[in-house]
Amino acid sequence: MLVLGIESSCDETGASVVRDGRYLLSNVVASQIEIHNRYGGVVPEVASRQQIAAIIPVVETALAQASCSWEDLDAISATYGPGLAGSLLVGLTVGKTLALARNKPFLGVNHLEAHMYANWLRNEPAPVEAVAESAKRDQPGDPLFPLICLVISGAHSEIVLVRDHGDYQLLGRTRDDAAGEALDKVSRVLGLGYPGGPAIQRMAQQAEDAYVAQKKTVKKARNAYRLPRAWLRGTYDFSFSGVKTAMLHLAEGATDAARTLQNGKPATQYTRYTRMGEQAAQEGAPDVALLASGFQEAIVDVLAVKTRMAAQEYQVKQVILAGGVAANLSLRARMRQELDPLGIRLSYPSIDFCTDNAAMIASAAFFHLSLGEHHGMELDVQPGLSLPFRK
Ligand code: KG4
Ligand code: ZN
Repeated sequence: MLVLGIESSCDETGASVVRDGRYLLSNVVASQIEIHNRYGGVVPEVASRQQIAAIIPVVETALAQASCSWEDLDAISATYGPGLAGSLLVGLTVGKTLALARNKPFLGVNHLEAHMYANWLRNEPAPVEAVAESAKRDQPGDPLFPLICLVISGAHSEIVLVRDHGDYQLLGRTRDDAAGEALDKVSRVLGLGYPGGPAIQRMAQQAEDAYVAQKKTVKKARNAYRLPRAWLRGTYDFSFSGVKTAMLHLAEGATDAARTLQNGKPATQYTRYTRMGEQAAQEGAPDVALLASGFQEAIVDVLAVKTRMAAQEYQVKQVILAGGVAANLSLRARMRQELDPLGIRLSYPSIDFCTDNAAMIASAAFFHLSLGEHHGMELDVQPGLSLPFRK
């Protein structure tokens, strides 16, 4: 089954042709990062305008690169939520219109479910023979149910028990900021730009390299900051606003501490943070890099430990990562450390398929279409859509 996927939920415009939910024929992404970087984050109005400008060329390129004609396609799919309403509207409208005009089945895709299905995509060419075989819903090499999926995108941080295709049980979610959101906000305050996750990862790596060069470990230096972790014991919930706020205080610490001392008032926690930062800086690593390293570590720590605990409690054989933050190398390494000793398999999409792309949309669509599901033209965008959890 050949499916065209369209993704336009935020600031990426994507189109992709995927065979049988796994094999890529093309994958085109037009990113707006350069534009939004100027504002330190995504500006919704700008994003939807850019979507309009990019969508048709992106779809045409995806078909051309797949050497695929409209007749070859079995179905068309597009994200219908969650995301920015104006951005979603562009891809969904184009997808439905093309399906109507070309007389193809249409399927609206849940963006979060698609992030999970990115784990079904393969880095190998489609098999030439046994086409019928490759269209089966379950294939050797696919993730094995039941599994734990850690969904970590820009707006979501959730631990989900997935018993089978479409069978989702929510175990825990963030009570305030998503991990990606916290990374983006802190990156902006540290002056590292948008998107925050990759920027913080780069800076953290610099701190680690600097310490390794001096034959020291970065761990001790960054511990000076004592960044808080909200464990919320007895639950699989997360909270990242505490560590985010501590970071904001650290970043603003210098000015605030100076002001407080000028007023003759006693030193506040800001002074304490700032002194620690100075001390750490004297030990050799650039301060911001060390802060980035400590912050990344605080987030990775909680994500990895809680996911491992869920995998143990529900006795799954596999954990998968889904969403933009799954691109984080430190998280991947830490997850392996947690899971390897327990013999639990870990998988994550290749970096390009962690962040927003349309291949994952076509993949998720395949698994619904193969059950005979499709949507009518009345399907509307759902900006607040969540995974379809069992009650
Ligand atoms: O899934 P995604 O591309 O878009 C949404 O569906 O939200 O996720 C975007 C998030 C952003 O917060 C971005 O900072 C984060 O993923 N991200 C990363 C990395 N690459 C992207 N976070 C940590 N490390 C990365 N390498
Ligand atoms: Zn996403």
